[in-house]
Amino acid sequence: MCGIIGFTGSSPAVPLLLDGLERLEYRGYDSAGVAVISAEKGLQIQKCKGRLSALRERLDSLPPLEGTTGMGHTRWATHGEPNDVNSHPHVSQNGQVAIVHNGIIENYAEIKEFLLHEGVRFRSDTDSEVVAQLLDYYFTAGSDPLDAVYRVLERLEGAYALGILCADQPDMLIAARKDAPLLLGYGQGENFIASDATAIIAHTRTVAYMEDGEVAVLTPDGIAVYDEYRRPVEKQRHTIDWDVSAAEKGGYAHFMFKEIMEQPDALRHTVSPRLRDGEVVFDELALTEEKLRSFQRIYIVACGSSYHVGMLGKYNLERFLRLPVEVCLASEFRYSGPLVDERSLVIVISQSGETLDSMAALREARSRGGYILAIVNVVGSSIARESDDVLYTWAGPEIAVATTKAYSTQLALLTMLGLWMGKALGRLDGAEYAAVTAELAALPGKLETVLSSAGAYQYLASLYFNRDCVFFIGRNLDYALGLEGSLKLKEISYIHSESYAAGELKHGTISLIEPGTLVVALATYGPLIDKAVSNIVEVKARGAEVVALTTESHRERMAELADHLLVIPDSHPALQPNLGVVPLQLFAYYIALQRGCDIDKPKNLAKSVTVE
Ligand code: AGP
Repeated sequence: MCGIIGFTGSSPAVPLLLDGLERLEYRGYDSAGVAVISAEKGLQIQKCKGRLSALRERLDSLPPLEGTTGMGHTRWATHGEPNDVNSHPHVSQNGQVAIVHNGIIENYAEIKEFLLHEGVRFRSDTDSEVVAQLLDYYFTAGSDPLDAVYRVLERLEGAYALGILCADQPDMLIAARKDAPLLLGYGQGENFIASDATAIIAHTRTVAYMEDGEVAVLTPDGIAVYDEYRRPVEKQRHTIDWDVSAAEKGGYAHFMFKEIMEQPDALRHTVSPRLRDGEVVFDELALTEEKLRSFQRIYIVACGSSYHVGMLGKYNLERFLRLPVEVCLASEFRYSGPLVDERSLVIVISQSGETLDSMAALREARSRGGYILAIVNVVGSSIARESDDVLYTWAGPEIAVATTKAYSTQLALLTMLGLWMGKALGRLDGAEYAAVTAELAALPGKLETVLSSAGAYQYLASLYFNRDCVFFIGRNLDYALGLEGSLKLKEISYIHSESYAAGELKHGTISLIEPGTLVVALATYGPLIDKAVSNIVEVKARGAEVVALTTESHRERMAELADHLLVIPDSHPALQPNLGVVPLQLFAYYIALQRGCDIDKPKNLAKSVTVE
């Protein structure tokens, strides 16, 4: 996934583009580049491998690029290794056009072969360059810019968010999108494109979200938008309501730590408006009781941490609803011939709302008649806009690649959805409903209690940051929670770890446990605490070092067993993971810190994976 920003107005473009790219670096950071255009100097490009700082250094060492129209790109490589030539913008061989691209052109090889046959000389190994060269081909054949753009888009297959500059149009920027996010920003005498609002919120809060197939032509005076048939489109404008500071570190060392600490507020913003007098209320849902009663099966479809939310949700929803809940990795679901029909509720969970696998799974489920309900953090994102219903996690922008507050709010919202459905279907015992909703309201305060001892995890990390493998074990909700604890550790500290259903250890994995092996034993799910104890004894007998995560009511019992204890407040079993995940986030964070890892931008990762 890559970051795009574009601008046309009366201010020098480069400083504005670089500031925007800095806010987009979480989307990909293996190379970056800018292109500006002016009547006097035409198209001017600078781009290079490495972080944005490398591009800044390059620009500082050269005469300034002059122009008040331009675009920038920060890359997460898919085709073509990270290097100067493969970075964006790409310029056509005749220098008539420059493009930046997010997505994958799936038929780029065929187009490249055609152009090579036409004598075009390519510079890079990327798929994206074919767009620049094909545009140039049509320009040379006499097409005007918009004609050329539509002719190129007709031939492209795959996903694209495009910024396009034409050398002979110094006040114009063209944008196009299909299956990759791109929004329009409306300013006073200036206009923008961006992959997400964080890049331009310092300049405008008025945005519109481009739809698949649309083309936008931006000048300082306005933005004209056309649909795939080149018919003018009047775009609905939205106002971004969170402030710039929400997308800044605010004095924290890392966005990830900031977002861990923001979890109580993120939960308040997500839960409180939907919890009135002890009742879960979803004003935003279109789902009717009649439709709700028609569901025979629930699918939860997601990737990564969002999938882990689904794994936890399965336990709660099946207990609340007495309906089968199938949790599927989106990348598997989309190719598995899912048995979805009009009696299926398909819950798609995604922080970014742009994950391509989840988007494709949504479309597969819709094509089979499923009712799509999305749980998404980014307002107006693709998954949100293609669903029948959307529940937004109001966690605010999440910048760190490793999700924390979005995960927590997704989890709370999914539990709330289970409560709401259980009550509507008359399948949830009133006492349990009241007990869980009461604990929901108490969650933010209890989270603050956990966060107040964040420093204790620093000591624990100092003991274990040099390990090369860690096991997470747990049962029921603790097993599902361990999946997230393991992923957090892997993705930011690069320590290999495994998460196992504790009852499964004896079926093979326990052969890996030897003296000194670090095992994080999750023992927060009260109904199976005795089983958790026996699993701890089991690994201790083989010499494991055990860090146990448990609740206040089991503190003493666990203290006798474990080498180290992480204790969280007691809550309702269904909500315990919302508290239990925080120590696991902090454990991973401080270990990664001790290891000197790039916590907000882990190697090889990006915040939203908009490629297969
Ligand atoms: C989580 O820390 C990871 N960054 C990753 O697993 C992420 O959860 C996954 O890519 C899904 O992203 P989404 O929620 O935006 O769809």
